[in-house]
Amino acid sequence: MKKRKMAKKKYKKEFEVTPWSVEGKVDYERLTKEFGLKLIDSKILERIKKHTKELHFLLRRNIFFAHRDLDWILDKYEQGEKFFLYTGRGPSGKTHIGHLIPWIFTKWLQDKFDCELYFQITDDEKFLIKEQTLEEINKNVEENLLDIAAIGFNPEKTYIIQNTKDIKLLYKIAIKIARNVTYSTASAVFGFKKESNIGIIFFPALQAAPCFLPSVLNKKNIPCLIPAAVDQDPYWRGIARYVAPKLGFYKPAQIHSKFLPGLKGEKMSSSEPESCIFTTDSEEDVERKVWKALTGGQKSLKEQKEKGGNPDICLVYKYLFYFFEENDEKIEKIYSECKKGERFCGECKKYLSSKIKEFLREHKKKRNIAKIEDYKKNLNILEMKI
Ligand code: TRP
Repeated sequence: MKKRKMAKKKYKKEFEVTPWSVEGKVDYERLTKEFGLKLIDSKILERIKKHTKELHFLLRRNIFFAHRDLDWILDKYEQGEKFFLYTGRGPSGKTHIGHLIPWIFTKWLQDKFDCELYFQITDDEKFLIKEQTLEEINKNVEENLLDIAAIGFNPEKTYIIQNTKDIKLLYKIAIKIARNVTYSTASAVFGFKKESNIGIIFFPALQAAPCFLPSVLNKKNIPCLIPAAVDQDPYWRGIARYVAPKLGFYKPAQIHSKFLPGLKGEKMSSSEPESCIFTTDSEEDVERKVWKALTGGQKSLKEQKEKGGNPDICLVYKYLFYFFEENDEKIEKIYSECKKGERFCGECKKYLSSKIKEFLREHKKKRNIAKIEDYKKNLNILEMKI
């Protein structure tokens, strides 16, 4: 008995992923099993490729690594039933590069499959779980919206819904969801405690609501695909997919990404600004942060030449792999040169810095001319239909 308890404790310490915190070194295969997701395999990639012609590097590199019912979404699509996309942002702070990964992939899906996109801003969620005022959170929203608009989603097919402002679109659906989920079901998924405030206990119904919004608006079921980081799974597994059959809707399908770690170790979090790259960082910020990043290099040039580096634990390599070097040949070359001791950390850091700076220059340009109104202008049409 005692032994079992201890084993559980140790296991708990290794990693934990919930929608509100990610701790430790995540074992994605184990997480996939625990959450009951399916790994993205070559078979499903081939199926996607049939429609998209090429595969996004986030798929080729297995950064989007798990799914639920993606095969069903493709079946429906092949039968002529179009799906819509649903993703979102909890505005807890400034936008960093890690946040952009699902958004960039979502835009790719929107372009390739010509989908509508519903983008939810959960300012209510962050108010309920963070010690920030509504005014502070709203400031984050304004900043985040510029980054979202800079991604370039199709304005004719994208709706950005901010919960505190556009609640009318979601409220009726949310209470229907909420009535079908007991406290004990929800707390088994989210781990609510006695001290949890009652707002956050209702909140999951609001995050599940957009899964069904287009079906309500169009008065017929429309398949939903959610691209998101994997920590969002409890909302879909525990709430949206659980209530869908009770309310007569399709269950939403999901496609999930891994997390981009921080530059100094495992966790990328806005509360550690020196280990994240924010979209508003200056060139000096980028250079300083990359220079201090954790690498897999040896202690001296001599040792590096003799033993080779270890790209598998190198954060500089990881940033290139996850985001900044899309070219497969180049990334393989960097990997093998490092392993063979033919490449040094300084060189990689310089290269990463220049890639990030180039990306941010372009992103900032788009951010400066971003028109958020484009994604808000059609909301009143939706409101009339609800
Ligand atoms: N809860 C998410 C966050 O904290 C925001 C969100 C709302 C979301 N709806 C979503 C994320 C749908 C992905 C998909 O960031």
